[in-house]
Amino acid sequence: MIKVSELVAGYGKLKVLFNVNLVADTSRITVVVGPNGAGKTTLLNSITGLATIHSGKVIFQDRDVTGWPPHKVSRLGLSYVPQMGNVFSNLTVEENLRVAGYLLDHGRLLDRLALVFEMFPVLKNFRYRRAGTLSGGERRMLAIGMGLMKEPRAMLLDEVTTDLAPIFVKKVLDKVVELRDQLKLTVVLVEQHAIRALQIADKAYLLVSGTIRYEGSPQDLLSNQEFSKLYLGIS
Ligand SMILES: Nc1ncnc2c1ncn2[C@@H]1O[C@H](COP(=O)(O)OP(=O)(O)OP(=O)(O)O)[C@@H](O)[C@H]1O
Ligand SMILES: [Mg+2]
Repeated sequence: MIKVSELVAGYGKLKVLFNVNLVADTSRITVVVGPNGAGKTTLLNSITGLATIHSGKVIFQDRDVTGWPPHKVSRLGLSYVPQMGNVFSNLTVEENLRVAGYLLDHGRLLDRLALVFEMFPVLKNFRYRRAGTLSGGERRMLAIGMGLMKEPRAMLLDEVTTDLAPIFVKKVLDKVVELRDQLKLTVVLVEQHAIRALQIADKAYLLVSGTIRYEGSPQDLLSNQEFSKLYLGIS
C-alpha cells in the first residue's frame, strides 16, 4: 500500500534520511519509533510531499508519488495528521471538520461528519465549542477526525499520543485500532513513547539518525534488550 525505497530525503540541501526502506501493508498498523531528531516526521513529510527528496521512491497504491505536491497525494486518499495537530483554535469543532472535508460534496460531507461523530462521541458533544477550548486529548481526537473527513484509505499519524495522560493515550490508541479494524485503513503511526504503540502494531520500524535500525515484529522489538533499553525507555 505504502512503499518507500532507498529514500534519501531532507530539507533543501540538508539530508535527514539515508536509504530508508519501509513497507506499510494494507489495513495494518505500522509503527515507526525512534529518538528525538531521528527523522520520523521527515519520513512522513517525505511521503506526503513536504520534504525534499534527494533520491529513492515513494509508492502509494501502486502509483509513484515521489515528489508530488501535498494536495495531490492527499487526493489519492492519503491523510496526514501532523505532529502539531493543526486544528483551527478559533473555529468550532464542527467547523474544523467541515473545513477538513471541503473537497466533498454536501451529501458525502454529511455522511463523513456522521461517521466521525459516531466514532468520536466527544466531538459530537462539543461540536459547537471552539477548538481552542478543548483539552489536549480532545484536540488529538479532533485532529484524527479531521484526517478522516478526507475519506482516506491510509492515514499517517505523527505523535498523536505525546504529552497525554495514560488514560488518553489508551483512548487515542484504541481509536487507531478502530481505524484499522472497522474502517480497514492502512495506518502509519509515529511515536516517540513507543511501548503502548508497539502493543497495537502489526509491524515495527526503529529509526535512528536517519537510518532504519530494526524492521520486524513489534513484540521482538519490545523484547530486544539493546534497543528497548537505548531507545524505548525500557530497563
Ligand atoms: N523544516 C525543517 N528544515 C530544516 N531542518 C529540519 C526541518 N524539520 C526538521 N529538521 C531537522 O531534521 C532532523 C529530523 O527531524 P524530525 O522532525 O524528522 O525528527 P523526529 O524524529 O520527528 O523528532 P521528534 O521525535 O522530536 O519529533 C532534525 O535534525 C531537525 O532539526
Ligand atoms: Mg517528529
